[in-house]
Amino acid sequence: MFRRKSIITVLAASMILSSGVVYAQTNGAPNAQSDTAFDNKVIKKINVENMYHTIKYLSAVPREAGTEGEVRGVEYIESQFKSLGLETKRIPFPIYDYKTNRELAKVDGVDLNGHAFSGSGSGNVTAEIVNVGKALAGTVPDNVAGKIALVERGDITFVEKVKNVVAKGAVGVLMYNSGPNGNNFGQANGEIPAVAITQEQGKALVDKLKNGPVTATLDVKIEKIEKTSYVVEAKLKPNKNKDTGQIVTIGAHHDSVHLGPGANDDASGVSAVLELARIFVNTPIDTEVRFLTFGSEERGMVGSSYYVVQLPKSDINRMVAHFQMDMIGGAEAGENHPLGGLIMYTIDGQKNLVTDLGASAGSRMYDVALPYGQLGRSDHQPFHDVGIPSALFIHSPVEPQYHQPTDTIEHISKEKLQQAASIVGASAYQIARPDTPALDRAHVAPATVNYDFENRPVD
Ligand code: BES
Ligand code: ZN
Repeated sequence: MFRRKSIITVLAASMILSSGVVYAQTNGAPNAQSDTAFDNKVIKKINVENMYHTIKYLSAVPREAGTEGEVRGVEYIESQFKSLGLETKRIPFPIYDYKTNRELAKVDGVDLNGHAFSGSGSGNVTAEIVNVGKALAGTVPDNVAGKIALVERGDITFVEKVKNVVAKGAVGVLMYNSGPNGNNFGQANGEIPAVAITQEQGKALVDKLKNGPVTATLDVKIEKIEKTSYVVEAKLKPNKNKDTGQIVTIGAHHDSVHLGPGANDDASGVSAVLELARIFVNTPIDTEVRFLTFGSEERGMVGSSYYVVQLPKSDINRMVAHFQMDMIGGAEAGENHPLGGLIMYTIDGQKNLVTDLGASAGSRMYDVALPYGQLGRSDHQPFHDVGIPSALFIHSPVEPQYHQPTDTIEHISKEKLQQAASIVGASAYQIARPDTPALDRAHVAPATVNYDFENRPVD
């Protein structure tokens, strides 16, 4: 299955791609009128009051991943999809919290008041210390076997450092800071106890070791608590007689930060996903459209990563575009930029099919060729990672309420919701609408526009 790249450079009146799919002229006005007619099939039906109602319901309770608040949100989303007759699935996946119950590090009987790394292994070990420097791959000495590795922070991740000393048989890690800023600096997964100490303490140990063996005791008890988070997937299948075999995905994340109402982040995106689902259900299409809401985005895109990894390869090969909406209603976002600061971010900072379609739609509807920029930080990342053209639609710079208890419905702009949903809806429809009769088995690309890269600060 082919994957569409940027269509902005297509200049011929029409051209046949290697796949045999025909793109009509994309650089001029001739299509503009019909594109607008197609746009209207979607955007005229958007009811921003529905979106507002969704945000109101979802933001009434925090939706942190793994909490009852998430489940309440998921149940709502699921019931909406089901009421539209969509093939709806709740996909559970595990997430982990770590609770530190003991984090003792003692040298020669003196407590160092260290901090266990979150994700450290549990255990009680007493052994000699071996200085292994920064524990870079290939530099860890063999004599650390059965001993506690004294590691300096820096250059590689904590996780890699722990892995490198574990590979040599170390039974514990004492890691000292690379600067004067304390001893509580992070996350390191591993099976052995790993405790962070200050730079001063670490340097003193390095010196002490020059005079003879030093023995330490590490006693760490970390409780791993498993919780469940969800992805909600709703499939809209195309007309059986007109099926391109392609899939377009439209997504948002339904989780919020701890105790956050998350009205804009990202109940706003979910509201657009639901509203577009409502409209597409009654619109003939030749492409499968999947409506997705992800849990645990705020933990590092855990839900979207899980979703993409569990997909059959044959599905991934059929996916031609992922539209991610995150924070699309912030009244105070975007400063004085056009269209309230709406921008499309890609992971690699390159244009793709999604940004081409978004820029064109913005230009047709609002006379603004949406700019694009480079940013991750949302669920378009895992889709990009497997080669699916993807972009994040967001207003930038973000509003002052971002990740605050004040991210409430009062700061939501209906106009911004309407604009973002219209642009994404019309763009997705350009792919999903059935072929025009004039061009058999063809996708008529929208008239493309010039649109610019912007290096706009996001927060
Ligand atoms: N909606 C934000 C993403 C965002 C925030 C993009 C501000 C641009 C500006 C998202 O929900 C978020 O907060 N993501 C996390 C990702 C992290 C957990 C990997 C972030 O950016 O801190
Ligand atoms: Zn978000």
